[in-house]
Amino acid sequence: MTRIPVALGERSYDVMIERGLLARAADRLAPLARGRSMAIVSDANVEPHLATLQRALDDAGIATEAIVLPPGETTKSWAQLEGLTDRLLGHGIERSDHVVALGGGVIGDLVGFACAIVKRGCGFVQIPTTLLAQVDSSVGGKTAINTTAGKNLIGAFHQPALVLIDPDVLDTLPPRETRAGYAEIVKYGLIDDPAFFEWCEANAAKLLAGDPTAREHAIAHSVAAKARIVAEDERETSGKRALLNLGHTFGHALEAEAGFSGKLLHGEAVAAGMALAFAYSARRGLCPAEDAVRVAAHLRAVGLGDSPRAVGITANGATLADHMRHDKKMDGGTLPFLLARGIGRTFVDASVDLTDIAAFLDEGRR
Ligand code: GLY
Repeated sequence: MTRIPVALGERSYDVMIERGLLARAADRLAPLARGRSMAIVSDANVEPHLATLQRALDDAGIATEAIVLPPGETTKSWAQLEGLTDRLLGHGIERSDHVVALGGGVIGDLVGFACAIVKRGCGFVQIPTTLLAQVDSSVGGKTAINTTAGKNLIGAFHQPALVLIDPDVLDTLPPRETRAGYAEIVKYGLIDDPAFFEWCEANAAKLLAGDPTAREHAIAHSVAAKARIVAEDERETSGKRALLNLGHTFGHALEAEAGFSGKLLHGEAVAAGMALAFAYSARRGLCPAEDAVRVAAHLRAVGLGDSPRAVGITANGATLADHMRHDKKMDGGTLPFLLARGIGRTFVDASVDLTDIAAFLDEGRR
């Protein structure tokens, strides 16, 4: 069992990582259940995992109520939030109760937000079932729903009380989703850990093929990196947590152009965005060109795209820059961009000119 603490004073919690943990989750959940029934929110894609968890809790004498929502990004909506909060209130939720979010980023974000507002805040536990949720979204307390104005625009910081990660649940994850989640793993190397990027270069093939040792190492290393950054800058105010947005500004524009649809997964957009952030940094003379080439080569080697075209986006630079103007990170008319001085040397630059970004994107129509 690997235990990674997220040190946030009275909001501190542990991330526990262990193969087969889902079937043994009752040991960890019993103290939070306090002898009461636990609500488990999940989606139709993870029903086998829900059955495993319910069996484990049932064997331990903990009653459960399963709330199964439709899978997909559209579940992060006002309508589903209203339905879920009504169900939780109907379940008799108390502030000291803990709702279990069993699923990927959509379930984690929606349940986390519902728990931030129901009775002005109740507890919740994240049990992430996708690679992306295990290495990124389940840790750190960002919760949100989408609105017609954009993604994640309504939300709150609300930390879970516990995160339980069972790498074995990834065995049934579609390869495309695994690759997309891998982008967020590489991100930790690119941000501030060149040795981990080298590890990724050497071990990505094994990890993506499901090698349990490589997978567990990558998850634990990523969670430890995220825990360290979140502990330093929980609410993204000092600039440290903003580093986790590497590739996300370019990526967000690509996702917006794809209509936030299954045509382009978040991790696929982030991968292309990271390659673009390095290529743009190299073009500006901030980063050695060979580092940008190396990043793009690694992403291509694992089957991720390194440019808009490579992920099926043919829009011109002006169109993509226009999507960036609607980014929620816009601050006083400027958009803080994550750029790099090299692999493992990412920094925030608030002086990037979106016209220059558009020109860069049009060069050879990337
Ligand atoms: N996924 C970025 C963050 O949690 O800050």
